[in-house]
Amino acid sequence: MAVPFSPGPETSVWPELSALAQRLGSAAVGELFAQDKDRFGRLSRQSAGLLLDFSRQRIDGRALGKLCQLADAVQLRARIDAMWNGEHINTTEDRAVLHVALRQNAGDGIGGAAIEKTVLTERERMLAFAEGVRGGAIRGSKGQPFRLVVNIGIGGSDLGPAMAVQALHAFTQGAPGCEFVSNVDGVHLAQVLAGADPATTLFIVSSKTFTTLETLTNARTARAWLAGKLGEAAVPQHFAAVSVNQKAMDEFKVHPQYRFQMWDWVGGRYSVWSSIGVSLAIAVGRANFQAFLAGGHEIDEHFRSTPWPDNLPALMGLLAVWNINFLRLPTLAVLPYDDSLRRFPAYLQQLVMESNGKSVMLDGRPAQSETGPVVWGEPGNNAQHSFFQLLHQGTPRAALDFLLPARSSCGNQPQQNLAIASCLAQAEAFLHGQSAQVVREALLQQKVPPAQADALVPHKVDPGSRPSSIVLFRQTDPATLGRLIALYEHSVFTQGTVWGINSFDQWGVELGKRITEQFVPAVEDPGKNRGAPGTVLKLLEAVKAWRG
Ligand code: F6P
Repeated sequence: MAVPFSPGPETSVWPELSALAQRLGSAAVGELFAQDKDRFGRLSRQSAGLLLDFSRQRIDGRALGKLCQLADAVQLRARIDAMWNGEHINTTEDRAVLHVALRQNAGDGIGGAAIEKTVLTERERMLAFAEGVRGGAIRGSKGQPFRLVVNIGIGGSDLGPAMAVQALHAFTQGAPGCEFVSNVDGVHLAQVLAGADPATTLFIVSSKTFTTLETLTNARTARAWLAGKLGEAAVPQHFAAVSVNQKAMDEFKVHPQYRFQMWDWVGGRYSVWSSIGVSLAIAVGRANFQAFLAGGHEIDEHFRSTPWPDNLPALMGLLAVWNINFLRLPTLAVLPYDDSLRRFPAYLQQLVMESNGKSVMLDGRPAQSETGPVVWGEPGNNAQHSFFQLLHQGTPRAALDFLLPARSSCGNQPQQNLAIASCLAQAEAFLHGQSAQVVREALLQQKVPPAQADALVPHKVDPGSRPSSIVLFRQTDPATLGRLIALYEHSVFTQGTVWGINSFDQWGVELGKRITEQFVPAVEDPGKNRGAPGTVLKLLEAVKAWRG
């Protein structure tokens, strides 16, 4: 059965939303609060341990209702069902998209009985291995427990586990240390190896395809290092791998019991829930990894069954569409007020931009509207002291997502209270700004001479009405992290459905990979420069001269 495809810009709801946006586009959001004493009640939702406050968005009840109509008009419900049923909604790769199957419980049957079985079996194998490494039952070639786990991967085979191990640092007591090496230049790997004891180091080569230049290069360097220190025979006991590519794992001589399966129906950026998360499972242990999956599953159930007006991921996605297409805000700044979430913006960059950075619709026609936003961000307090100036007074406009836990991630609640105060204060400042009149009065009260005050006023005015959402939660724990990731995953799917694009392929990254392969010989051996195009010949000559 063909999956319904109704791009938002071609629905009758789209021009109605445009008209509403014209009216709201010049409204002061602070005024909207003044007109509606229960604005927070109307424009916030709490579910599955997350409180989404979108009362600071430039929106009202009518526009919200219309956005929910848009979700119906683009047949979001049918597309969700198609995803869950394992239909090949990733049309350009002819693949199902079943990361939701990775978070299922026995009996759920997501993706069908065979997929449920393979997921649960592989999950159990992976968790048993992780527990073995964590507890010291699985040891290195010299019989010593592993003290260091080095995940070698990139993109979705790096960002998810790297972000999650960082975020859940408080849950990693007693586990080996985890490092995540990704870049091809070898700098990070060299630093990690310099401090590593080969006898107690386990490498995990994470690569869905097992063909990725960066990962295979680092894996070979690590392998040579280990073989050099402990001998070739030791290698299998120090290398695990996660991939769909069994043949490549054979060739790499990965220990048969230390290999974990991936499936083509899991996109790299959606794979932290699979065995790609083995480093996370080693770091936080079986129960916490299961809690992480359960958190994601909770949001899956919520997304699948909740009407749009109360559906957190759908609302988040629809608000993103509102900001991008109707209020013309092409970027999203993600601002966690918990340093343990410091890699979350980087994680979201791949999730959002690799998924929705498309300009062609499912049927091959050009997209009829702007699509995915540029995502960026930093932990909130750091950002306040670097780029918030631009957000407050600069000309480029961004939408903002504040991520705010009530409880400290390190047991230091007094300092977390300062982070909470900072976050709420910034949200308030972005909402109300400060008018020329307020600025002028403050200056005069400080006894600044009137002429000087008048000169300063325009520099100190803050226009306010910068749209933001706050995602408030109790604590950055495994279940909550699972919920947060699934929240954004389904928001991304909602947005992609509205734009009528395929959120699950990534053809744009292929060209650069291919050209890199062509250039490697010319860079390695300048004698082979003849194959390189004129556009880079002079640069190659300069490289040669400076490289020595
Ligand atoms: O180049 C982008 C990409 O294909 C991502 O989609 C993926 O997460 C990453 O490379 C790594 O791929 P692999 O897991 O196959 O090494």
